Amino acid sequence: MTRTVSEVPAGPFPGLPMSPRLLLGPGPDMVHPRVMAALSAPVLGHLDPEFLAVMDRTQQLLRYVFQTGNRLTIPVSGTGSAAMEAAVASLVEPGDRVLVCINGYFGGRIAEMARRHGGEVATIERSWGEVVGADEVRDALRERPASVVAIVHAETSTGALQPLDEIVRVVHEAGAILIVDAVTSLGGVPLSVDELGIDLCYSGTQKCLGCPPGLGPVTVGPRAEEKLARRRAPVDSWYLDLSLLQRYWGPERTYHHTAPISLNFALYEALRMIAEEGLEARWARHRANAELLWSGLEALGLTLHVPAAHRLPSLTTVRIPEGVDDGAIRARLLSEYGIEIGGGLGDLKGRVWRIGLMAHSSRPENVTLLLGALGRLLGRS
Ligand SMILES: Cc1ncc(COP(=O)(O)O)c(C=O)c1O
Repeated sequence: MTRTVSEVPAGPFPGLPMSPRLLLGPGPDMVHPRVMAALSAPVLGHLDPEFLAVMDRTQQLLRYVFQTGNRLTIPVSGTGSAAMEAAVASLVEPGDRVLVCINGYFGGRIAEMARRHGGEVATIERSWGEVVGADEVRDALRERPASVVAIVHAETSTGALQPLDEIVRVVHEAGAILIVDAVTSLGGVPLSVDELGIDLCYSGTQKCLGCPPGLGPVTVGPRAEEKLARRRAPVDSWYLDLSLLQRYWGPERTYHHTAPISLNFALYEALRMIAEEGLEARWARHRANAELLWSGLEALGLTLHVPAAHRLPSLTTVRIPEGVDDGAIRARLLSEYGIEIGGGLGDLKGRVWRIGLMAHSSRPENVTLLLGALGRLLGRS
């Protein structure tokens, strides 16, 4: 039988773009050359003893970064949304009552996932840039008990940093389990999973961890593990079932899927760099560079969207001045200076710019360059 093979498409197919960029948006951010070099290490088999050893060390370092002793601490294959969905799919069973705190775009995404996995979702909604109070969570749980509560620690869409201490206490008093999204905080903003008592926390590699996008670290505490073990029905996502993933990452080493080897190497190198720097020093670096940015933006006469008390060091939202063309300024920053910053998302679209200073992007020279470029483009320097 003859088979016809379609012709090579006409193209053109130029090589990959190699334009130098300074990534100061909401992520991904700059990746240190050491981490890029790790991506080019020879690929190993996913059950090769040398790869298994890297997996073990990665888990140890992830426990350090999450500040936890949780056994089930792994990088899920997939971006932050995969980690989010692994958390929601694994802990929410059809008919479970779920309370989601929404003060930005990503809280809304959690609620949508919880609904799709059969949860009966109630929400607490705050305007974008504000944080949720523990008393609001207490009242909502009194009115309508829930078995799972979810909240975003660092809302990348608004630049607000959510205090967690009181909320963890309130959620536990109500007998519920707390899921925390730490996609834009882990590794750059103080967060101690065990000290706070968070039951499940997840993140993404492309933000304060300093890695390319593609993995979603997750840590699961004893109460969440117990809920997972007591499920009435299997998790309705095979790929994102945390109990199955643990059998590959745990001592059983049961094949689940082919781990993205090179990305795991990159994550391992990025975590080694975090350990070398030390978490507290890293948190302080993110804070110091953010403060430099905040004072520089204010010196340009710009207004920061979030009040200082709840401002997120890793991502800053600054209001776009009246009469300034949002898209034109961002396009010129990119074409004339090679600098990427983010536009507003959802409710804040067209109202703010989002400036990320995370991991290898969080450096004083980057702040100086951005302030200089922005000042010139706005005619304010
Ligand atoms: C707070 C937050 N949660 C979840 C996500 C989803 O992560 P990803 O885009 O890596 O899938 C993001 C991405 O920016 C985020 O900022």
